[in-house]
Amino acid sequence: MTDAWHPLIAETEFPADGKLAAKLGGWFVLVAKTDGGFHAVNDRCTHQAALLSGGRIRRGAVMCPLHGARFELASGKCIGGAYRDLRLFPVRVTDGMIEVCVPVAPPTMEELPVGI
Ligand code: FES
Repeated sequence: MTDAWHPLIAETEFPADGKLAAKLGGWFVLVAKTDGGFHAVNDRCTHQAALLSGGRIRRGAVMCPLHGARFELASGKCIGGAYRDLRLFPVRVTDGMIEVCVPVAPPTMEELPVGI
């Protein structure tokens, strides 16, 4: 088994501001709710590794709080800046519980945010 599902929070308890940061299996994960549903990404900007969870979410994208790069949450694509796309994690809702799937192997230094 290379990936594992982790329960996060009941869908009804999801924060009203549309985002939740969590550490699951050693991975820093940002889960966000957009018009398209729930999305989970590695909570690490691909520019200089800032935590994205401190950023604002608007129109289906998160803006990095450090230098303002924007990433589309559904695809991970960098749409405001010239940086690599974000790593996506599968997310699902099972019996009202939001679950996120992350690799069993812990993140490498290149996959961890700074300032944690
Ligand atoms: S660290 Fe995110 S834009 Fe620079």
